[in-house]
Amino acid sequence: MTRDYEAPMTDEQLIAAARDAALRAYAPYSNFAVGCAILSTDGELVTGANLENACYRLGLCAEQSALSAAQHRFGLQKIARIAVAGGDGSGAALVGEQPVTPCGGCRQALLEASHVAGRELVVICASGDGSKIERHRLSTLIPHGFGPVSLTDAR
Ligand code: THU
Repeated sequence: MTRDYEAPMTDEQLIAAARDAALRAYAPYSNFAVGCAILSTDGELVTGANLENACYRLGLCAEQSALSAAQHRFGLQKIARIAVAGGDGSGAALVGEQPVTPCGGCRQALLEASHVAGRELVVICASGDGSKIERHRLSTLIPHGFGPVSLTDAR
């Protein structure tokens, strides 16, 4: 989903967008709905949500869904801010009191995006009910990561 914002969004608005996106998750197997909102340097917003599959291992995470939307909407190089929220999405509202931090695979995907953007990314992690928020630098989430530089160093 994409939307334009004239004024820069606050962290609270970005989290609200991630929580809203989680309500459009397709998560019938885990009932754990995750939403991710990514804001560009120009103030454009994209969101994504997890997309599960009966063949469980083929499920797509919210972060990678949102990264794909960002790639097409404004390009990975313009990624400025990211919020993730998740919790029980089986009802009308997203609930859950623990902030959701990106899984290992998503940390790796975010590392690639961070490299393209040329800036260290901070991931705002929120609980399903929005009551708890943590901010984590990507270098903290994935220290000593294997990135594009690791490949060029070998040449
Ligand atoms: N999930 C995400 O979408 N992002 C994460 O970073 C953690 C996990 C999804 C995958 C699966 O659909 C559900 O949450 C439960 O693991």
